[in-house]
Amino acid sequence: MSKEELVAEYSNKIEEIYRQRSPKSAEVIEYASQYVPDGDMRISIWFEPYPTVMAKGDGCHLYDVDGNDYLDFSNNWTSMILGNNHPKVVEAISKQAPLGSAMAAPHELVFEWAKILCERIPSVDRVRFCTSGTEALMFAVRAARAFTGKDKILKMEGNYHGSYDIMEMQVGWRKLPPGLPKSVEQDVLVTPFNNKAAAERIITENKDDLAAVVVEGIMGAAGMIPPEDDYLKHLKKVTGENDVLLIVDEVISFRLSTGGAQLIYDVQPDLTALGKTIGGGLPVGAFGGREDVMAVYSPKHKRPAHHAGTFVATPIAVAAGIANLKEMTADTLDRINSLGWSMRENLQKALDDLNIKIQVKGYGSLQQLHFTSEPVFDAQTAFFTQDRDLLRLFHLSLMNKGIFIPNRGFFAISTPMTEAETDKAVEATTETLSELKPLMEQIAPQLVG
Ligand SMILES: Cc1ncc(COP(=O)(O)O)c(C=O)c1O
Repeated sequence: MSKEELVAEYSNKIEEIYRQRSPKSAEVIEYASQYVPDGDMRISIWFEPYPTVMAKGDGCHLYDVDGNDYLDFSNNWTSMILGNNHPKVVEAISKQAPLGSAMAAPHELVFEWAKILCERIPSVDRVRFCTSGTEALMFAVRAARAFTGKDKILKMEGNYHGSYDIMEMQVGWRKLPPGLPKSVEQDVLVTPFNNKAAAERIITENKDDLAAVVVEGIMGAAGMIPPEDDYLKHLKKVTGENDVLLIVDEVISFRLSTGGAQLIYDVQPDLTALGKTIGGGLPVGAFGGREDVMAVYSPKHKRPAHHAGTFVATPIAVAAGIANLKEMTADTLDRINSLGWSMRENLQKALDDLNIKIQVKGYGSLQQLHFTSEPVFDAQTAFFTQDRDLLRLFHLSLMNKGIFIPNRGFFAISTPMTEAETDKAVEATTETLSELKPLMEQIAPQLVG
């Protein structure tokens, strides 16, 4: 049998179970396709044959429209660090809702939120808010351009910074995804993640045009790959020597410590972009950094940069964000990071027992399986050595076993979880991999033995 036939045989079996468990999801997606193209609302949550439609979330559980119960290891792509409907967040939202949801005037709560972030992140002297991580990056880049008077940015291949045009270049397999103007290529330089020499070369060669280097605190969506060998520190040194600003995107990595990846890797970027966990499940973003750089947005600046937004820091979102951050204490983050590290050990043990050579990468509460036996440290090694058929079957199989992970294959741990939940995920992973092992032996023998 050809590889395609072997994969199809497994795929049909796994899909059949999936369809039997989720007939209502299928119906909803079909109905939705009349109004929304193919019923997809957000490409990162789409998978074949159709995504599971969720009815509600409760703590670390999600319940689909067919009544199936899932352990939520997606955390809405890492953002729901306290799980759904955390009592403190619900209380904060309920308290604020009758007092007004949006007003075109400053609200005192916003400055409390700002104070918490400035106190937690040493490199952030001043901060401003927006409504998503995408915007946080967009405004951070704008600050860097306004401050330096230069246009270009350097980003790392595979790093995801949201859906702003210049940030979408070379995120995945396509250099320039459809819909991006060719002009993006003039302003964006790309270099491999975790390669100090390559970054240094491109920064020094382009220093006269380069406003900023943008890098994720850990390479998140593309594989939960940590920076290696003082990579971030090196970027800070080289950017500093060349009058280029360093922007660290902590939209995902902020959950890893009270001050994000920059605290762990001991680096002080010029600007930081935030989102996801800082909002208690509401749509928010923030960007902040050096006082002199952030001053480009001051209305008293001689030529201020533009930052606006009808729903910037609305009181309900801010109340939820503050409540959420107050729960993200050092002890709590340490606890879920430790859970992640021991989950990783248990996954590794299961892989060793099964004689399967796929890998676990990640940091603390974020761990990911990579279906490759090659060392994984950048986009090339994460995307191109990976067996994507196996990843797809693994994901759908876990869904069938009530473990909800994104189709990328990562596990994000939330605070309602204990060892009981992580053990269930390891158990389901072990079971799935032993079911897939005969297929691996045939289509990817390098992963077995
Ligand atoms: C590292 C990183 N930066 C930025 C973004 C964009 O954030 P948002 O989806 O809130 O626009 C994301 C989203 O996943 C992300 O992972």
